Amino acid sequence: LLLHAQDLDLPIEFHVNNRKALRAKMPENSVAIFFAAPIQKKSHDISYAYHPDPNFYYLTGYKESHSVLMVFKTPLKIDSILVDELIFVQENNPNDEIWDGARLGVNGVKEQLKFKYVISNKEFSVLNLNYEDFDLVLTHIPAHGFEDNARDPGDLASMHKHLLLDLKTDSVLVNEQYRLKDILAGLRQFKSSREIELIREACIISAKAQNELMRTFKSGMYEYQAQAFLEFVFVNEGAEKRAFPSICGSGENGCVLHYSENRRQTKSGDLMLVDIGAEYKGYASDMTRTFPVNGKFSPSQKLIYNLVLKAQKEAIKLCKVGQKFWTPHDKAIKVLAAGMMQLGIISSYKDVYRYYMHGTNHYVGLDVHDAGLYGAYKPNQVVAIEPGIYIPSGSPCAEKWWGIGIRIEDNILITKYGNEVLTKDTPVSVEDIEALMKEESKYFK
Ligand code: GLY
Ligand code: MN
Ligand code: MN
Repeated sequence: LLLHAQDLDLPIEFHVNNRKALRAKMPENSVAIFFAAPIQKKSHDISYAYHPDPNFYYLTGYKESHSVLMVFKTPLKIDSILVDELIFVQENNPNDEIWDGARLGVNGVKEQLKFKYVISNKEFSVLNLNYEDFDLVLTHIPAHGFEDNARDPGDLASMHKHLLLDLKTDSVLVNEQYRLKDILAGLRQFKSSREIELIREACIISAKAQNELMRTFKSGMYEYQAQAFLEFVFVNEGAEKRAFPSICGSGENGCVLHYSENRRQTKSGDLMLVDIGAEYKGYASDMTRTFPVNGKFSPSQKLIYNLVLKAQKEAIKLCKVGQKFWTPHDKAIKVLAAGMMQLGIISSYKDVYRYYMHGTNHYVGLDVHDAGLYGAYKPNQVVAIEPGIYIPSGSPCAEKWWGIGIRIEDNILITKYGNEVLTKDTPVSVEDIEALMKEESKYFK
């Protein structure tokens, strides 16, 4: 009897096949042990919203904590049946579920997540595997955040303690974290068609939020009002979460790369840098637009904006099969350096890093900075391309450039024959942005 149906965001075969792909890449006679992410405490008895470990979720589809997954390269005999994977999960518990919501429980995981061998996490120590029988034990264990609940023998802390005791003999060869991380990065960097659909939807929602904000925006709005508006659109459009703290930096704040305080009142004449990402069914998007608070770029703002835009366009052109991962970044640096030299902002090439100090590209997926192996591009990879220029006041260049912080970021799907900009619903040219800001938002009507 299935008491608690969990909606699956991806077909269960996706997760089953991911474990198969992992097993195929594991070394001979090895076991891979994955711990679920711990529940993160804010303070006292308040926790942050739970976010599954992306590798754990990718392999299982399970969204609860206090769980351990084991995958065996070669099937083992346990209780006289051959087992090539097993999972420990938290049991159903009516009392706890009244407070914290439904759990899948042992039977739910068996039936919905298609695991043949599911064990209550309270029985972790009962399994008693002999780890010396493996040539290699591969582990993926979050570095911190295990809090021991003395009343729960099945919590992460208890399972972790027990595992460490079992592995604490010289004859067990343990390879922490790295090999599994690389295997998973090698798998996760290629997206299935359903994953691409989810990222596409996240991008559509982010773009809608950007568009409606630009239509709604008036000088004098506070940065947090922009944030509230954007995140209202996310939730209203069906995105459960934001993939990272929204960055709404006006004026000087646009030069702070991960600014997320968003407390300042915007002023006519400022630029506003908006770097946001809706998360849809676990998948991130990550897009930035920079617009003039009063609806019209000043001449110096326009010059820098168009330079960043040129760098972005040239970088995006290089997001195609066969190009090396960092080629778009190298190209962006070249364009930005040449442009800033021409504008007299810098006098030598290497000074480009004074005003552009971050990478241009990263993978996007379950993580906003997703896992991948940074090899040459292949179809079904998704990347963000995000050049920028940041000139805080007091910089060693003409004053007319001071306080300009500009980033333009889109998400790009690599296809067989080229690429597709998934965030293209939001305009990017000076003219189109100024025109959009003159439109009225009908979002609330
Ligand atoms: N918002 C984080 C990034 O752009 O990478
Ligand atoms: Mn971003
Ligand atoms: Mn980014």
